[in-house]
Amino acid sequence: MVAEAADLVIEGGTVVTDDSSKLATVVVDNGRIEAIVDATEDAAQIAAVRRIDATGRLVMPGAVDPHCHVGIRVGSYTTRDTYASASLAALAGGTTTIVDFAIPAPDQDPLEALDERLSLARTSRCDYAEHGCINGPTASIPATVRALAAAGVRTIKLFTTYRGILMVDTHTIAEVMAAISEVAGLTYVHAEANDLVEAAQLEAVNAARIGAAGHAATRPEAAEERAVADVLGVAERLNAAVYFVHQSTPGAVDLVQGAKARGLHAFTESCPHYLTLDDGCYRSAHPERWVCCPPLRNRETVDALDKRAELGLIDTVGSDHCCYDTVQKAERADDVREMPNGLPGVETRLPVVFDRFVATGRISPERFVAMVATNPARLNGLYPRKGTIAVGSDADLVIFDPKASRTVAAAELHMETDYSPYEGLTITGWPSTVVAGGRVVVDDGHVIDPGPVGEFIEAGAMEPPYLPRPS
Ligand code: URP
Ligand code: ZN
Ligand code: ZN
Repeated sequence: MVAEAADLVIEGGTVVTDDSSKLATVVVDNGRIEAIVDATEDAAQIAAVRRIDATGRLVMPGAVDPHCHVGIRVGSYTTRDTYASASLAALAGGTTTIVDFAIPAPDQDPLEALDERLSLARTSRCDYAEHGCINGPTASIPATVRALAAAGVRTIKLFTTYRGILMVDTHTIAEVMAAISEVAGLTYVHAEANDLVEAAQLEAVNAARIGAAGHAATRPEAAEERAVADVLGVAERLNAAVYFVHQSTPGAVDLVQGAKARGLHAFTESCPHYLTLDDGCYRSAHPERWVCCPPLRNRETVDALDKRAELGLIDTVGSDHCCYDTVQKAERADDVREMPNGLPGVETRLPVVFDRFVATGRISPERFVAMVATNPARLNGLYPRKGTIAVGSDADLVIFDPKASRTVAAAELHMETDYSPYEGLTITGWPSTVVAGGRVVVDDGHVIDPGPVGEFIEAGAMEPPYLPRPS
């Protein structure tokens, strides 16, 4: 009887979670995962409105992007995208939940910034969560943190750089960490020592190399590593959990590892671009297209960072998606202090990481799922609703073709920009079908816009077992 049929059955694929891979059938009904039937059992008798044959492909949890800026305004530039376009691009690339940042405008209250974001997000095609941000004088940090948690936001991003716009001092970092511990949340930190960055920028000005081609030297590795060490010092004194966004050097990762070994809940996020691209991009015809903070590093550093990913030392991979176009990037390419920073990447995050690490046999599919889906869900208080394939979890699923070969071409992607940092790169592994909340939104490569159905997912308390499994 059709009334009793499940909405969707995905059969024949290898179901991959962060701790297992097995041939199984996934049964979806009413937007949730209803059953996972082992291949040894007969699933053919399960009636379904639709059946998808996933033979030869991986069936993984919908990915969670822990670091995705949508329509971000910094200085005088705003990225080209909206929630509608960024979320559709996310789905096209196998990401079914994005976590955006409610960064207050100058003198804006963090809660007001959150309200503004939630109102913009009503056009989202995929589910979303928000990070809060404290970037200036705040009347009562504990009260703000409690109010954000009550509104479903338990992660707060702090910047140690971008003086006058985003940067906060050590006292504020300590206050936020202490307050966020009380709500079982997590402090997210962009760690670059601003004094070292400003000194390097001044040197670049004096040497007439402050343009995009000189970007890497203006934000040295030492700036990142010193800020990580300083912030870890504060976290350890308070025994507060801390998450470092977009780590770009092996030294920074090793500092986090050291803190972990001493028992601190400390986490490393890196990004596809830091794990693959190097500062050779700044010697290209359009160096400005790769200007991001921290900058791309030299090949030796990239290789050492990539080795750490192989060793399981990187907890999450976020896109740090910032969807500027080539016109915006070029306008002030003469001075990196005035340029819009960041790279588009919400759609290419999974394929770039899969190609580099899984297609080459360097990490397992399970570890891949941990880095792009499960750990980001855990470290944003979204697990087990998101980030896993389990009975009762949201039916967010990616049928990933590990053999698909595709050459990156911005014109074929869905991000609201005219370039990709990976243009021309041939990649092995791409999502073929994506299911979000039980709806098929990418069907054998064809993107089907589901309309503004994305929901705001409130973050829950982040206590064990919501923290990642030790790697
Ligand atoms: O260059 C970057 N990463 N821009 C985006 C803002 C941030 O710092 O994450
Ligand atoms: Zn940042
Ligand atoms: Zn960012």
